[in-house]
Amino acid sequence: MTSVTVDLYDRASWRGGAPHSTFAELRRTDPVHWQEIPGQAGYWAVLRHADVIAVSRQPKVYSAEQGGILLEDMDPTALQQLRSMLLAMDPPRHQHHRKPLTVPFGKPQIATLETRVRDICRDILAGIAEGPDGAVVDLVHDVASSLPTRVLGEVLGLPEEDWDHLHHLAALSARTIGESADHEGIAAVSELAVYAIGHAARRRSAVESGEPPPDDVTSLMLASEINGTAMDDLEFALQFVQLFIAGNDTTVGMLANGLDVLLEHPDQLALLRAEPELIGGAVEEIVRYAGPLHYFRRTAMVDTELGGQQIRSGDKVCLYYTSANRDEAVFENPDVFDVRRAPTKHVAFGFGEHFCLGIHLARLEGRIFFEELLGTFARIERAGEPTKIWSNFNNGLDHLPVRLRREDHRAP
Ligand code: HEM
Repeated sequence: MTSVTVDLYDRASWRGGAPHSTFAELRRTDPVHWQEIPGQAGYWAVLRHADVIAVSRQPKVYSAEQGGILLEDMDPTALQQLRSMLLAMDPPRHQHHRKPLTVPFGKPQIATLETRVRDICRDILAGIAEGPDGAVVDLVHDVASSLPTRVLGEVLGLPEEDWDHLHHLAALSARTIGESADHEGIAAVSELAVYAIGHAARRRSAVESGEPPPDDVTSLMLASEINGTAMDDLEFALQFVQLFIAGNDTTVGMLANGLDVLLEHPDQLALLRAEPELIGGAVEEIVRYAGPLHYFRRTAMVDTELGGQQIRSGDKVCLYYTSANRDEAVFENPDVFDVRRAPTKHVAFGFGEHFCLGIHLARLEGRIFFEELLGTFARIERAGEPTKIWSNFNNGLDHLPVRLRREDHRAP
């Protein structure tokens, strides 16, 4: 039995950040906890690391396709649209659609991007103009937000003059997956898809006219097959849109949360400056400690048992990565932010069937961004209070005001 009365669904419970102490108590007393949702079916909140893994390992028992991946019931048309994304497909369809992307997003292919990602980071940071008191910027909007779309533009071989517009469309499209789906978001998704179809068509006709295919992810995707059938332009467009939606806010969240947490822990920031080779491990600790997504949902397809609870077919089941990543059964001193904590078994990128496709890209962007940020600015300080996105799904910042100085003139 638990004495916890905190409503995990109510956004009010997330106002100051994730309810970590409630999660800790529930992991001890009621690790698969029933939570009501006003006006619709409630859900099982899965809070322990081992149970999150157990559910993620059984995609046929716990479906991503049946009811989608968010807690709220969706209208049938929106749900049908969502099912065009890997995130909301079940096996075997999921494997057929994911397979063509495994080489393009695999570690060796992504590793070839190191120099180009570094150039993009340098270019963004070079644009920050300093006055006598340094430069005051909003790290979210002025620095981090354009990185993932520019990198995807590079990865997919998109013309550079389109990147800004694609960035705008990606930001609007992201709204279709969080709590604030609206017409502008849906229109942006359609525009992205139309753009992708045009890109595929131009690329195919250039290759047909004898040009060698560029060495990029577009070429790899267009040459691939889905369950024995060549990838067509519509399927390419669906995957393209998905990459922009899944890889945008998550990456910005990782970068902004990361700097916020480092400013909260100056000893850890100093450690990274002294030993930059720790930055790769620090990115893992950032997503464990302050990952950009709190949860994804599944729907039980059969009656089953989980963590001592009877789950009925049709029940909503919520995988709280944010809780699993602080599970004391797996992490020593889980509430301590420690950039030396490696290797780590965090589930910020999910686990099993739907394990993040973009993990190697996200890690590369995270490592290079912090290497370049710390390498460029000798002094980084807060220039105001950060404001959090107030959500029970996204863990990110609306604003992170910071003052940056290329040189640190303080006395040693
Ligand atoms: C820090 C950054 C990121 C985090 C924390 C993150 C997190 C996640 C998580 C938790 C899942 C699993 C969803 C589930 O189990 O239902 C996932 C799936 C996915 N992610 Fe990421 N992600 C990040 C960056 C990216 C990037 C950069 C891309 C691509 C450009 C990407 C593309 C995807 C895709 C396509 C899936 C669906 C995979 C599937 O269902 O097979 N993600 N991500």
